[in-house]
Amino acid sequence: MAEQTAVTDRPFVELLEGVGHRLAPSFTEDWPGLPVVSGRGLDLETADGRHLLDFTAGIATANTGHCHPRVVDAAKRQIEALMHGPIGIMYHEPLLRLAESLTRWTPGDLDMFFFANSGAEAVEGAVKLARYVTGRPAVIAFTGGFHGRTYMAASLTTAKARYRLHYEPFVGSVYFSPYADPFHGGFGEDGERCARHALDQLAVLLDRVVPPEHVACLVVEPVQGEGGYVIPPPRFLAGLRDICNRIGALLVFDEVQTGFGRTGEMFAAQTFGVTPDVMAVGKGIASGLPLSATIAPERLMSRWLAGSHGTTFGGNPVACAAALASLQVIEEEGLLANARAQGARLLAGLHDIRSGHPRVVADSRGVGLMCALEFGGASDSPGMAGTELAQQLLEGCLDRGLLLYAAGAHNQVVRLMPALILNSAQVDRALGIIDDSIASVEAALGPAGRSAATSGV
Ligand SMILES: Cc1ncc(COP(=O)(O)O)c(C=O)c1O
Repeated sequence: MAEQTAVTDRPFVELLEGVGHRLAPSFTEDWPGLPVVSGRGLDLETADGRHLLDFTAGIATANTGHCHPRVVDAAKRQIEALMHGPIGIMYHEPLLRLAESLTRWTPGDLDMFFFANSGAEAVEGAVKLARYVTGRPAVIAFTGGFHGRTYMAASLTTAKARYRLHYEPFVGSVYFSPYADPFHGGFGEDGERCARHALDQLAVLLDRVVPPEHVACLVVEPVQGEGGYVIPPPRFLAGLRDICNRIGALLVFDEVQTGFGRTGEMFAAQTFGVTPDVMAVGKGIASGLPLSATIAPERLMSRWLAGSHGTTFGGNPVACAAALASLQVIEEEGLLANARAQGARLLAGLHDIRSGHPRVVADSRGVGLMCALEFGGASDSPGMAGTELAQQLLEGCLDRGLLLYAAGAHNQVVRLMPALILNSAQVDRALGIIDDSIASVEAALGPAGRSAATSGV
């Protein structure tokens, strides 16, 4: 009988063959898992020796680039000192230093932190806090939003019906109101009308369905991520702020995807000039190590009774050390300004691509380094041509060495969310690959005259 060993020594490439038998199929969505052996900056090396230009940053997470040397060094030093330190038992230095440092960046008076591990947990914490301090049950979320996979987070999520399939009953007292979506709402450049429409719908909800005095909080992404990189007119977020002030509910920004420089400021709250009462952050906070936080002003969070919310791993010392190094990199390497500058260059290029391929590209949009191309027209109906076009673009780009990712209700959006360290040459290379790939997609549609929406692709 072969000797049993604790850990298999089968080579990586052999393990890949059995991957379908070992990992839950729910993991993969619409994009094949890539066998990646290493990452540096925007470069990913695969098991078969390919190098890819990564415009996903691990789903808007490796904001300082893969394995930034300063982040790696900080994590290594901390791992040798203390790997685990549950906050219920001990305080460690990176934790306290991170809490103090983050107050320099958070909007308004958001200066108290509950550290956790994932974005979903940060959202859970935000809603638990809101219910706890207001004593009210109801939570209002927005159509197309994505807040994570745990039960409350999933209960707030309507980015895709698939995320909710077979999971009912969801957490109670959750209500939905439309997000201000300029493109799908057909509002075009008329941000004022788009915002007014969404705010009017919310007023109807508060008038007819849920009494304002029952509402603990509104939970909203300042820019929708998984929902398709939907950028609301600033008036929408300002309007939500006004409504919360009026009805005494808390405004919760889910900044899990928008935070840590993604929109060109540290938080989207600053990009849009609207201060929430509570923020949920995660993803980019520690450049890829698992860490997240629920953040609120001391006057609110200090009302949480000892023991009423807790965690074993949250605020892990190694992750906190990586977060501190990430903040230093963002500041000292000028990554916010770079995100704005390279984001503007990228968006201008995407607009050009859209103008050059109007048969195929329905919309181009972006804020900072949260940019997207949408396919198949503004119709949100299932089976639309956009899904197939977006998939063809993803595959065409991957063949040419550029890694992108989908978003949107039907994965009809291709999103670009590169690390904030990217340079002009990388922007231009990506744009060239996208343009080339779209030209191939367009050529496959056949003679001009057949539009993407009617070609049956
Ligand atoms: C806006 C937003 N909130 C919450 C989450 C959930 O984060 P996590 O996957 O870390 O639980 C995500 C993840 O994509 C997100 O984009």
